[in-house]
Amino acid sequence: MAMLNKASLFLLLLLLPVTGVLAVFKPLPQLPPIPADNPLTEEKIELGKQLFFDARLSKNKNISCNSCHNVMAGGSDGRETPTGSTGKRHRRNTATVWNAAFHTSLHWDGEALSLEHQFIMHLRDPAVLANSEQTIEQRIRAIPAYKRQFDAIFAEGVSVSNIAKALASYQRTLVTVNSPFDRYLNGDESAISEAAKRGFDTFQQVECSACHFYVNLAGPQPGLALKAGEGFWELFPNTRGTVYEEQYDLISDDLGRYNYTGDDSHKIMWRVPSLRNVAITAPYFHNGKVKALDEAVRVMAATELNRELSAQQVADIVEFLKSLTGQFPLQTMPYLPDDLGVLNEINHRKRLSPEG
Ligand code: HEC
Ligand code: HEC
Repeated sequence: MAMLNKASLFLLLLLLPVTGVLAVFKPLPQLPPIPADNPLTEEKIELGKQLFFDARLSKNKNISCNSCHNVMAGGSDGRETPTGSTGKRHRRNTATVWNAAFHTSLHWDGEALSLEHQFIMHLRDPAVLANSEQTIEQRIRAIPAYKRQFDAIFAEGVSVSNIAKALASYQRTLVTVNSPFDRYLNGDESAISEAAKRGFDTFQQVECSACHFYVNLAGPQPGLALKAGEGFWELFPNTRGTVYEEQYDLISDDLGRYNYTGDDSHKIMWRVPSLRNVAITAPYFHNGKVKALDEAVRVMAATELNRELSAQQVADIVEFLKSLTGQFPLQTMPYLPDDLGVLNEINHRKRLSPEG
């Protein structure tokens, strides 16, 4: 192994699952890859958390990131598709922010190249924040406790790119380690049930693991095999003409990766999503049309592997998928800077030095 250079390691990681011999699974590390131009610091994480909960980021000051990505729960919103700040319905299901930092490309179609870039896309999206760079910068700069924090952390103070950096830093802490499956991978045989073990075997035998592998069960190793901005896409559906295609409207005018590359071979190609915590992030798929996990498993088997699974196999795989629910670090609500900067200054001082 020590002799392998990065290129051959990449090949190895790709070949193993595709040939179905042995897929690579790894427990989720404590920390995702951290970009060199945005090192993690306590202050930035705390600032990012305030922004995450602050509805003033949205055009009509009515929804925060947490309105759709509830971090007191699974990091999404349980809706088929959400509604943005001005009432426009989004065409896609809300993907979870938990462990999103392990993805090297974000959004169902992988268009966003990093968490930082992802924020800029949401900011302008008429079905999300529906806001503009100029408005958000002016608003945040006008709030004294925000201005003070940005000035202390970043040389350029308040800017859209620094808002993105702070938000990304907070999100890089949204990691759910220690799932039963991870404890099992670490050698604790009793961490998952017999059904989940059978499910894990089936998951590999029928080759779900050709696409869902490595730390996030979402493809090649982030940070090593795949760099930020690179992605792992597959056709969905791969097998055309199944009953599910029509039932769940799997092919619509939303054509996935093709939407932004314009390359015909990218039609209906979607980023392979993580399966971590998937048991608590229903409904499923980019359009949120499938409500239950067992049905999502049947849809995957039919559309991606051209297979029909037995009821037992489906039940076992569902048990395996449940074992991917990790431990959620407790999130405390931040103090939000008030427009006048009075109350908040006091709260912040208390928060940063509880004794004084
Ligand atoms: C109106 C609901 C809504 C709000 C508000 C919202 N998001 Fe999202 N978010 C979505 C939807 C829908 C997607 C999927 C978008 C797509 O695939 O095109 C998404 C995707 C994401 C992803 C990508 C996850 C992945 O695995 O690909 C991240 C990260 C994210 N949002 C972070 C944020 C942050 C940070 C904020 C606040 C600045 C925010 N979101 C506000 C609905 C929302
Ligand atoms: C050829 C690659 C491939 C294979 C094989 C595959 N998947 Fe997927 N899987 C994907 C892609 C791509 C998506 C995202 C589809 C979309 O755009 O909604 C996905 C989505 C999912 C989802 C929904 C995730 C969510 O958050 O909504 C589940 C659950 C899932 N897969 C489980 C499985 C299981 C179980 C198997 C084996 C029976 C399997 N997959 C086989 C590529 C694959």
